[in-house]
Amino acid sequence: MTTVSSPEKSSHHGEKKNPGPFPPKGLPFIRLQNIKKRFGPVIALDGIDLAIYPGEVTALVGDNGAGKSTLIKIISGVLKPDEGELSLNGKVYKHLTPSRAIELGISTVYQDLALVDCLDVASNIFLGREPLKAAFFVDKKRMNKESEELLRRLNVSIPSVTTPVEFLSGGQRQGVAVARSIKLQGRMLIFDEPTAAMGVSESAKVLELIRSLGDEGFAVLVISHNLHHVFAIADRICVLRNGRLIKNIRKEDTDLEEVVGFIVDSNQGRSKGTEAKTRQ
Ligand SMILES: Nc1ncnc2c1ncn2[C@@H]1O[C@H](COP(=O)(O)OP(=O)(O)O)[C@@H](O)[C@H]1O
Ligand SMILES: [Mg+2]
Repeated sequence: MTTVSSPEKSSHHGEKKNPGPFPPKGLPFIRLQNIKKRFGPVIALDGIDLAIYPGEVTALVGDNGAGKSTLIKIISGVLKPDEGELSLNGKVYKHLTPSRAIELGISTVYQDLALVDCLDVASNIFLGREPLKAAFFVDKKRMNKESEELLRRLNVSIPSVTTPVEFLSGGQRQGVAVARSIKLQGRMLIFDEPTAAMGVSESAKVLELIRSLGDEGFAVLVISHNLHHVFAIADRICVLRNGRLIKNIRKEDTDLEEVVGFIVDSNQGRSKGTEAKTRQ
């Protein structure tokens, strides 16, 4: 191996640049300014200003069509905004690309799309960037050991890292997908409806995992239409309506009923003085 970009794990091939340490406490991991996106006549995002902080779980809520998925696609570089800027790591971008986003430590955790069913857990965690032994041979022993350590740290229980992922439950798959994102040097982890189609106890495990990622210092952005789940894990709740960010509020400054009101636009009058406390 001659050219290796990461100083940390020099025997991984295909390694992306290390996105570097988290920003100092209190500074956002990423800041969006005046992000606008149209699809023909549809205004999907209409001037979004939003900062996502490391060590916080930010929940993005809103009715169908509010613009949630469009917003995370812009953050993960899948879509280009028509207007606005993204600031990250001291740099300002008009848009990102998927590979640039990954380089910068932005990782979207896809429950199904990212995993290869017929491969085992460890192979999925290291997909495409397996450690090499003697230049050519994949170091399976090391992959297994590192996978076990990572899953243990994430408190994800899986019978064996040599089990093909097709035999795992939804929650376990989510755990493997998170481990993969962390191996990809993820600093910001994005989840779009992580508990959709999951039972109660599976959901509880996934929620616990997402909460722990915030506590570990990751910047976490999660979309969920289940407000009970949102209130279980979020530090900050952002409400999108018709492409506008109409509320960015700390969880302790609001309650479920009020958030429902923001989503459906029924409690403009009701306020617990939250406007003044909204950070932005
Ligand atoms: N690729 C697309 N082409 C055309 N319209 C789109 C596309 N993606 C999203 N939209 C429209 O943009 C709006 C926001 O969609 P989306 O971000 O998926 O909302 P959410 O995830 O909150 O349900 C909707 O009106 C939707 O129909
Ligand atoms: Mg969506």
